[in-house]
Amino acid sequence: MQSVSINNLTFDEYLSQQEVATIVAQVAERINADYAGREPLFICVLNGAFMYASDLFKLITLPAEITFVRLKSYEGTATTGKVNMMIPLQTSVKDRDVIIIEDIVDTGLTMHGFIQQLKDEGARSVELTSFIFKPDSLQYPDSMPKYIGKSIPTKFVLGYGLDFDEKGRNLGSLYVLRPE
Ligand code: IMP
Ligand code: MG
Repeated sequence: MQSVSINNLTFDEYLSQQEVATIVAQVAERINADYAGREPLFICVLNGAFMYASDLFKLITLPAEITFVRLKSYEGTATTGKVNMMIPLQTSVKDRDVIIIEDIVDTGLTMHGFIQQLKDEGARSVELTSFIFKPDSLQYPDSMPKYIGKSIPTKFVLGYGLDFDEKGRNLGSLYVLRPE
């Protein structure tokens, strides 16, 4: 599909399924090399990262584990980077090499709080992979992902797990909002 329409807005294909697959394979290759000899614990951040996490994890050749959280960040009155866990972490991160899997890092608020929490809980190391990164939006430098699928300008994207009003997550390609 070249374009899709959701809630009267039009989105144009930005990364084809083939391009997505190539990007994910490149990230997996880097992680496999960097973590050789270790047993990292991947943490998939729900909801958006489920598709990226699934594709990425299949390509990890290490004796890795995966667990899941669902996060909600609050801004406004609570600009402390506090993150609410809608589904809390079920696995201990103490002394673990943790790799967080995110769909997208925008301002970095969500990851800012979560990375600090994992360090407070005794993780040996914490790194972040994000399928999409918007460098021009970043406000929390510690949320800069080490393993970036693709950096994009500050535009709204959906598909491949990412939603607009909870719609569009099921699209296999990545789409970008068409300018008015
Ligand atoms: P951050 O805390 O500002 O980095 O925002 C992260 C969250 O905002 C992501 O996990 C997404 O849920 C949402 N988000 C940011 N940009 C987009 C986008 O372009 N499309 C869909 N969701 C987005
Ligand atoms: Mg997310």
